[in-house]
Amino acid sequence: MIHVERDDGIAVVTIDRQDALNALDVATLTELRDRLHELAADDDVRVVIVTGAGERAFVAGADIKYMSGLDVDGATEWGALGHEVGRLLETMPKPTIAAINGFALGGGCELALACDIRYASSRAKLGQPEINLGIVPGWGGTQRLARVCGPGAAKELIFTGRTIDADEALRIGLVTKLADPVLDRARETARALASKSPVALRVAKRLVNRALGGDHEENLASEAELFGELFSGKDAKEGLTAFAEKREPRFVGR
Ligand code: COA
Repeated sequence: MIHVERDDGIAVVTIDRQDALNALDVATLTELRDRLHELAADDDVRVVIVTGAGERAFVAGADIKYMSGLDVDGATEWGALGHEVGRLLETMPKPTIAAINGFALGGGCELALACDIRYASSRAKLGQPEINLGIVPGWGGTQRLARVCGPGAAKELIFTGRTIDADEALRIGLVTKLADPVLDRARETARALASKSPVALRVAKRLVNRALGGDHEENLASEAELFGELFSGKDAKEGLTAFAEKREPRFVGR
C-alpha cells in the first residue's frame, strides 16, 4: 500500500509492503502511479519525496514471484506500467526526491533513478540484479543509469548484477548524498525547494531533463527562450527586487 503525507507543500510518498521488502506488485505499483498523478496535478504540492516503509528497504525490486508467471504480453504491459511511473517522476512539474532507506534493487533502483535527487542512508544497498534472473532492467534503468553514472559504470553494474553499498553509490554518482536518517535530510532539502519559485523550478527541471538528449543547439536556444520568458512573471520580479532590498523573497508561483 502507498501512504501519502502532506505537510507545508511537501508530500512524502511511502511504499509499504514490508513483508516483501516493499517489492512492487501490480496493486502497489498501480496505486503508486495513481497517487503520483494526483500529486503532479496538485499545485499546493511543491516537492514530492519517495521512500520505503520500515528499516530495511526502499524497494527490493519488481515482484519476482509475480513476474515468474508472465507471458510476453503480460511482461510488456508490466514494463509499460513501470515506465509510466518513471516518466511521471521524471517529468512532473516539481522536484522529486528519492530517500533511499535500504535496499534499492532492480525496479527500486529504477524508481530512484527516475527521481530528480537521490539521497541514501549509509546502510543502503543498490543495484540492477535483473541479469541474475535472466532478464534486463525494464523500467528505464538501462537508459537512466547510463545517463546518471555514464555508460561504463552502467554496463558494469547491469552486466554483473552486483549490489553496491552506499559509499560506492556515492562515489559513482548514483546518489548525491549519504545521510542518516535519510528521510530527515530529504525533508530538509524539500523545505528549501518549497521556498523557491515553483515556476523557476519547473523550468529548471524541464531544461536539465533535456541536457543529455536531443540537439545541443536547440536545447541552448530553449534555455535562452525560457530564461527570457521568466521575466514576464511575478516570481522573477520578486526575487530580483528582494535581493536589491536585502530581504527574503516571497514567491507566489507565477
Ligand atoms: N520480489 C518479491 N519478493 C521479494 C523481493 C522481490 N523483488 N525481494 C524480497 N522479497 C521477499 C522475499 O521473497 C521474502 O519473502 P518470504 O519471506 O515470503 O520468502 C521477503 O521479501 C524477505 O526477503 P529475504 O530474501 O528473506 O531477505 P534477505 O534479507 O535474506 O535478502 C535481498 C534481502 C534483498 C538480498 C533478497 O530479498 C533479494 O535478493 N531480493 C530480490 C532482489 C532482486 O533481484 N530485485 C530485482 C527484481 S527485478
